[in-house]
Amino acid sequence: MIRPATEEDLPQVAVLETELFGPDAWDEVALRAEVHGPGRRFVVAVEEELTGYAVSRSIGDVVDLQRIAVSPSRQREGIAATLLADLLAHPGDADRMMLEVSSRNDAAIAFYLRHGFTRLSVRPRYYRDGSDALVLGRALLVADQGSGRMGT
Ligand SMILES: CC(C)(COP(=O)(O)OP(=O)(O)OC[C@H]1O[C@@H](n2cnc3c(N)ncnc32)[C@H](O)[C@@H]1OP(=O)(O)O)[C@@H](O)C(=O)NCCC(=O)NCCS
Repeated sequence: MIRPATEEDLPQVAVLETELFGPDAWDEVALRAEVHGPGRRFVVAVEEELTGYAVSRSIGDVVDLQRIAVSPSRQREGIAATLLADLLAHPGDADRMMLEVSSRNDAAIAFYLRHGFTRLSVRPRYYRDGSDALVLGRALLVADQGSGRMGT
C-alpha cells in the first residue's frame, strides 16, 4: 500500500535513510520538515513493515524528486515503481519532474531511464564522494498517469 507518510513512520524511514545514504542521510528532524514542508509529497510503501518511501517537492512548473528508496531486502520487486507512479499522479501545477543522481548510482540511473527520464546536464564533483551529479528530467504527460489533467 502506498500512502502519505505520517510522523509515526519517521523512525523507520530514518533507519532506511542511514542504511541507504550513510553520511548524506536525513535525520528525523530533516524528515519531519519534509512531511510538513510546502509543496512536498512524502509517501511510504507499507506492508507488514515499511518497505520504501519517496519525497517530491513542487516548485512552480517543476516537481523535484528528492528521494526514492527501497529497503535492500525488497529491491527489484517494483516497489520504487509504485512510489514513483504515485508522485507522477500528483503533479500539482508542474509539467515536468527533475532529479539529481550520482553518476556512480547505476541502480537508480537504470531505474530512472526505464521510467522515461533523460539526461539533461552534469554537475561535476557535486557529491561528497567526488562523484558527478547527473540532472535527469521527464515530462509529466497528461494521459500518462491517469491523473485526469488536460494538456495545453
Ligand atoms: C533505485 C531504487 C529506489 C530502485 O528501487 P526498486 O524497488 O528496486 O525498483 P523497481 O523494482 O521498481 O525497479 C526495478 C528496475 O529498476 C532498475 N534497477 C533497479 N536496481 C537495479 C540494479 N541494481 N541494477 C540494474 N538495474 C536496476 C532496473 O530497470 C529494474 O528492472 P529489472 O529488475 O526488471 O531489471 C533502489 O535501488 C534504492 O533504494 N536504491 C538506494 C537509494 C537510492 O539510491 N535512491 C535513488 C537516489 S534518491
